[in-house]
Amino acid sequence: MPHERFGEQPSTRQRFIEDCFVICPVRIALVSDIHGNLVALESIASEIEEADQVVCLGDVAASGPQPRDTLSFLRRSRWPCVLGNTDEVLAGRGKENLSRLKMPEDERQKMVSLHGWTASKIDGADRRFLAGFKQTIEVNTRSHSILCYHGSPRSNTEKILSTTPEDRLFEIFSGRVANVYAGGHTHEQMVRKFGSSLVVNPGSVGLPFFTDPHGDVKNPIWAEYAMLSLSGDSLRIDLRRTRYSGKALEEAVRRSGMPDPGWWLRDWVWPGREPQTRPP
Ligand SMILES: [Fe+2]
Repeated sequence: MPHERFGEQPSTRQRFIEDCFVICPVRIALVSDIHGNLVALESIASEIEEADQVVCLGDVAASGPQPRDTLSFLRRSRWPCVLGNTDEVLAGRGKENLSRLKMPEDERQKMVSLHGWTASKIDGADRRFLAGFKQTIEVNTRSHSILCYHGSPRSNTEKILSTTPEDRLFEIFSGRVANVYAGGHTHEQMVRKFGSSLVVNPGSVGLPFFTDPHGDVKNPIWAEYAMLSLSGDSLRIDLRRTRYSGKALEEAVRRSGMPDPGWWLRDWVWPGREPQTRPP
């Protein structure tokens, strides 16, 4: 039963999932990689309220302007969360290896100071909350099983992409049977087949990206998530993108006191915004 896996008493919603499944569709929202962007998360809050259950796939607070407020939101929401790689570092249980990232040295230094600022904005209660996130979460209805993780069931830094070979997926999912495998980490929305199952990535709520025709990586001003609708044996997966206000994000960044706000905002694009120059 889902509530046993969450380690909580059965909520009204979980009872609803178990009791009502035969006669009405059950909707499960998947959100991932919020990265301290509460403006983006709040833009989808009313839409994901439609769901009977929300599961957060990790990387909730690091690398964005509103780490503490995002954690407060999640604590109030009581959504089950899996432990992302940056959550593990913020919780004090892991070490971030920024040297693995391919980026110019000055950008790496900005990233280091951003992570230091984030760590300084949260307290012991926030760290304990993060440390309580699970490696994997299973959601079971009467005819579907959904296995949730951050990168993969065995590692929160492992990437599952649309191009990951099928034989590698067999290795990754070995011994973990599910109808739907759901994870984030890559910030790339995806649905693909794996045997008779589906693999879904809802993309990123707070730090989505795309590559423009010049090869530059940009951040669009939309929040990505997925909505699963389960009814009898049928399954529908909607990958969604909700636009929000670039001005609201800009204001949150300027108010936050985060280091290098202009650098953090540089690659975001929204209607009416002048393209920001990159150093040569
Ligand atoms: Fe992430």
